[in-house]
Amino acid sequence: MADTRTAVVTGGASGIGAATARALRDNGWRVVVFDLPDALASAGRQPGLAHVGVDVTDDAGVRAAFDGLRADNVRVVVNCAGIAPSARVLGRSGGHSAGLMRKIVEINLIGTFNVLVAAAEVMAANEPDGDGGRGVVVNTASIAAFDGQIGQLGYAASKAGVAGMTLPAARDLASRGIRVCAIAPGLIDTPLLAGFTDEVRARLAADVPFPHRLGRPEEFAGLVLAIVDNPYLNGETIRMDGALRMPAR
Ligand SMILES: NC(=O)c1ccc[n+]([C@@H]2O[C@H](COP(=O)([O-])OP(=O)(O)OC[C@H]3O[C@@H](n4cnc5c(N)ncnc54)[C@H](O)[C@@H]3O)[C@@H](O)[C@H]2O)c1
Repeated sequence: MADTRTAVVTGGASGIGAATARALRDNGWRVVVFDLPDALASAGRQPGLAHVGVDVTDDAGVRAAFDGLRADNVRVVVNCAGIAPSARVLGRSGGHSAGLMRKIVEINLIGTFNVLVAAAEVMAANEPDGDGGRGVVVNTASIAAFDGQIGQLGYAASKAGVAGMTLPAARDLASRGIRVCAIAPGLIDTPLLAGFTDEVRARLAADVPFPHRLGRPEEFAGLVLAIVDNPYLNGETIRMDGALRMPAR
């Protein structure tokens, strides 16, 4: 296993995570996808990748999944698992449900935290590279962390939490040689946007200054590869949004 380099991608059964898993595989990484068993069962498996059924909200399950990779030289972990429901503070049927708020935070923020901690425990035992580096964790925030729209209260709060973790996590893990970055994507054309009509998608794309279109999952994957390859990128949340600043709606 000494020459094997393993990358873990959560949420790798779909969208941004699936593109990232493919890009890492195509760049010589052994890739293990963590995603919900149902997502993996329904077309979420891609050739040349290993798959493990993991719910990122289950801290013991996440730790057990990483324990199973202790001998595999895990050097890259990309957190893509997430959900994006929308609800207003006061909607037609009353106030924002606390249960929905908890669910969004549990998956997007606590899930990312669970994976970060378990990944760090495994990476800390890696042989250091020439710079003393033992691995890198890339989390997925969103531009909603900074410009949350109407109906994005829970989503924006959860992603602001992910962005807020980046610097302290990088500082906490500096002595172990583990880097932590986050990517804050704008509007990326994935199944997350599939619920919108073509007309709405065209309107969304029209607001993007340049390139004047939705982003591609492969562009996110390319940024992950750049972060992996550049040892001086650390502690930063990088916007990838074609200069889009989201309006209120
Ligand atoms: N698509 C966009 O425009 C956009 C913009 C900004 C940020 N993001 C973020 O990028 C990430 C990926 O989004 P996407 O567009 O690829 O969405 P997607 O719905 O295509 O993929 C999300 C994946 O996460 C998995 N997942 C959900 N809950 C999980 C859990 N509890 N445990 C394990 N896996 C779980 C799903 O099964 C799915 O495979 C999300 O965090 C999302 O918030 C997306």
